[in-house]
Order: sequence, then structure tokens, then C-alpha cells
Amino acid sequence: MPKTFEEFKIKDLTLRNRIVMPAMCMYSAGQDGYANDWHFTHYTARAIGGVGLIILEATGIEPKGRILDSDLGIWDDSHIEGLKKIVDLGHKYGAKMGIQLAHAGRKSTVEAMECLAPSAIAFSDRMKKPREMTHDDIQDVVRKFGEATRRALKAGFDIVEVHGAHGYLINEFLSPLSNERNDEYGGSLENRTRFLGQVIASVRKEWPQNKPLQLRISAHEYVEGGNEAETLAEMINLVKDIGVDIIDVSTGGVVLCEMDVYPGYQVRHAEIIKRNTGLPVIAGGLLTSPLMIEEILKNERAELVFLGRELLREPNWVYRAARELHTVADWPVQYERAYK
Ligand SMILES: Cc1cc2nc3c(=O)[nH]c(=O)nc-3n(C[C@H](O)[C@H](O)[C@H](O)COP(=O)(O)O)c2cc1C
Repeated sequence: MPKTFEEFKIKDLTLRNRIVMPAMCMYSAGQDGYANDWHFTHYTARAIGGVGLIILEATGIEPKGRILDSDLGIWDDSHIEGLKKIVDLGHKYGAKMGIQLAHAGRKSTVEAMECLAPSAIAFSDRMKKPREMTHDDIQDVVRKFGEATRRALKAGFDIVEVHGAHGYLINEFLSPLSNERNDEYGGSLENRTRFLGQVIASVRKEWPQNKPLQLRISAHEYVEGGNEAETLAEMINLVKDIGVDIIDVSTGGVVLCEMDVYPGYQVRHAEIIKRNTGLPVIAGGLLTSPLMIEEILKNERAELVFLGRELLREPNWVYRAARELHTVADWPVQYERAYK
């Protein structure tokens, strides 16, 4: 059996294979943050398509924590029903379901709302200047991550993913490029990690111990003075005992810059995170080839892989991979005649 199609078990969760659809914003929710037919269809198609774990797009824990006002929301109990419908449909077709809990920080473009950040530094000339967060703001956002987790549990998700990547709020605290605070949330590596630790504690308080908590990070910032994979590993080591189970390794997004992208461009960063933290990792970056994915998994460079854009192009990628790797996997009975 190819490694791609081996089950993966973490805590009480078993995935049918090693393929993850990472969080990808659909900007389709309308201003109220509710899931609609687009979400029901889009996520269900990937579940029918055989994906092992589907992570729902960045979902705002508060209205001003959205990237755009068309993001999904989880700041109110009324969001639970739509999210539960996505989860139930995903489960019906064999996928496990996760949700990315997110706060956009200084990268929020929601009009008529202020944006918050560790320091009052705009992401670019064309973005709003954020307000530096007070201690009360920090505690408020920490609490809202916990409340969002309680809703995610009610909706039936298998995994919560804390969005600590791509230059959004948590990442803004972690990076010296966006955090110029001189209180206990800025300066040293320990101080810059404090907000992340508090968010994880707040999430873990609501999230049962037998369910995995996933953290997404940007393990490389592509500019001098930015965080590297080794820095991120040190940060993860400071917070992992609060209850982090798996790391979803991405890169970039903290500042505007050129990124060198090529098939597997984030895998080497994932390997460093895995080696230096001892935690399982999800690796990716322009992955499309089943054989390349077999290499990554077989050589134990990562436990799982994510395919983002490839799964947007090809929702049934898993079945193509099964044919190429000469295995039948979980081929759905309705599609059996296509396995020839
Ligand atoms: C349309 C689109 C939306 C995305 N939205 C998110 C998001 O909500 N959260 C996130 O962490 N990453 C997001 N990403 C990044 C992807 O999760 C993934 O890390 C990136 O596309 C690299 O993987 P790939 O080369 O396989 O596409 C998005 C990417 C795309 C293409």
C-alpha cells in the first residue's frame, strides 16, 4: 500500500489517507459570515473526492478579524448551524473536518472597522494603519478564540487549527518585523510567543484533550531579520505542552516580498519543524505529483501533505493518485467504472 493511502491516527482521530486540503479562503460568505450553497458544494466535492482531512478556510473569530467581509464567521452561535452542515456532509463522504480559527490583525480590509495589531505599523502603503493593541484588547481576542472553539466543537469539527501564519494577527506578534512592542508581548522570542501561548490555552480549555489541536505557522519570512524555521521551532517548543498536537507548515505573508516558489518549496521548512519539535507536521507548497508525495511521506519528511491549488483544479486528485500508484484506496462505488 502506498504511504499516501495509509491511515493516519492522531489522538482519537483516524484519517483515511495522508492528503489534506489546507484552509483556502473562498470569500463567498456575504457580509454576515454565514455558510451557503457554495461552501456546502465546494467542501463536499473534496470529501467525495477522497481527501483525508479538509480544513475550512480562515474563519473570523470576530467581525474585525476577517480578511474581507465575505469571510466565513464563527463569532456568533448563529454561525454553528451552517458550519455543522458542512461538517456533516464531509463526514458523510468519509473526510475528517477541521476549521481554521483566524484573526487577520493588520491585514484586515473590512471597511468601516478599525484593525488591530501588536504595533501600529501598516502592512503596506495601501493598507490601513492598525491600532496598537492594549492589554484589554489582547485578552478580548484571546477570549474570543476560546468562544470560537466552543462553537467549532458544537459544529462537530474533528480538528481546530489556530491560524498563526501568513502575517495575520498571531504571526504579527511572533515576527520581529511586525512586533515592536516593549512590554511582555514584544522583544525577546519568549515575549513574542506569549500571545500565541495564551490563544492556545484559551482554545485548549474548550477543546477536548482527545481531539487534536493544529497550529499553522509561517516557518520562513523571506527577508533578513525575519523568523526562520529554527526560530519557529523554538517558539513551538515553548507552547506545545499547552496542547498542540500537529503543525501545518507554511511560509511567508508577514511582509511584502518575493517568494521563491517551486514544487515542494515549503517541505524543507516542515522537516526542520518536525526535527526540532518532535511533533508531526503537514508539508506542502505547489505539490501535484503522487510520486513526489510518496517520496516525502516514505522518507518521513512529513506525516501528511497538503494540496491547495491542485485540489481547486482537480477535486478528484486522490483518485488520479490512486491509479498512478496502483491502488484502489477508498474508491466510491458510484465512481468505480472510472477505475479502468
Ligand atoms: C484561494 C486561496 C485561498 C487561501 N486561503 C488561505 C486561508 O484561508 N488560510 C491559510 O492558512 N492559507 C490560505 N491559502 C494558502 C493555502 O492554504 C496553501 O498554503 C497555499 O496555496 C500553498 O499550497 P499549494 O501550493 O498547494 O496551493 C490560500 C490559498 C489559495 C490559493
